[in-house]
Amino acid sequence: MRKIILDVDTGSDDAVAIMAAILSPDIQLEAVCSVDGNKDIDKTTENTLRVVQLLGSDVPVYRGCRAPLVKFLCPDRLPRRGESKPIVKDGKVIQMHADYLDIPAAEIKEQPISAPEFYVQYLRQATEPVTIVAVGPLTNVAMALMMDGTVMDKIEEIVIMGGGYNITNVTPTAEFNIWHDPEAAQFIVHCGAKVTLVPLDATHAACITLDDCERFRKLGTVSGDFAAALCEQRIAVHDDSQPLAVPHAAAVHDALCIAYLIDPTVLKDVREVHCDIGFRDFSEGQTILDPRYYTEEKNCRFAFDGDRFKFVDILCDLFARDKKSGR
Ligand code: RIB
Ligand code: CA
Repeated sequence: MRKIILDVDTGSDDAVAIMAAILSPDIQLEAVCSVDGNKDIDKTTENTLRVVQLLGSDVPVYRGCRAPLVKFLCPDRLPRRGESKPIVKDGKVIQMHADYLDIPAAEIKEQPISAPEFYVQYLRQATEPVTIVAVGPLTNVAMALMMDGTVMDKIEEIVIMGGGYNITNVTPTAEFNIWHDPEAAQFIVHCGAKVTLVPLDATHAACITLDDCERFRKLGTVSGDFAAALCEQRIAVHDDSQPLAVPHAAAVHDALCIAYLIDPTVLKDVREVHCDIGFRDFSEGQTILDPRYYTEEKNCRFAFDGDRFKFVDILCDLFARDKKSGR
């Protein structure tokens, strides 16, 4: 069992990742931490609580940072959410990320301390290493490691959904999670821990199709049904404004990080690279990979491809384990 802390800005694909982590027999989910990103911190926290409640899990939820470290102090660095252009389908407004997930409002409560405080307390007392899986902006993780740099040896790996080499989304040079808090990302890629980036190059290759959603529904479980609904929503947006190479398919970015923990071969063409994060102008949020063969020290691993067939099989296996029937 691999101990993990999952850091999310729930969001539709974050929700799939949370369910996968809760259901995996290979993962001990120690905590889920919310952060400002796709939506404001109130919404990402509420959505996280809703998913944990839906699966009947008792994993603790910690509310994280309500803004990036420094970015939005700069008037010319406009605040923007990971919004997609809303589309209307069968009379319903569809977005990549709804303000609130279409599942019952949370009755369970978040924990009384903040996510960065939790990270520091947990890591100081940890007797076994833990993997941090960050699928939103890296604000919480950077804040925690700024508060206490003595806990680095407790971190087995930091797995990040973020970045892009041949593929970007929020700007021509950047992927949203990195772009939303580039200073936090630069701090983390140079923090000295083992860092694995799961970028858009991998998440777009490991896309989920409408046929895969049918497989999820056929499982007859709450998680399978909800994952199918979330992925179908994402496919509608991709088809409308961000078509992938595979028709009627969506990247479900965050869940691929969980799949990687279960079967690392779901990521392909993983290379050690020297990566810096741009802060300024056109390079803001860019994952800048040094192509020189005599490059400086390699500071992270970067997955340039992903295996969509392995990915969907892993998700089907996980959702089939859900004891809560969707019927
Ligand atoms: O760019 C994709 C990432 O941004 C995903 O984590 C998605 O949830 C959003 O946070
Ligand atoms: Ca996310």
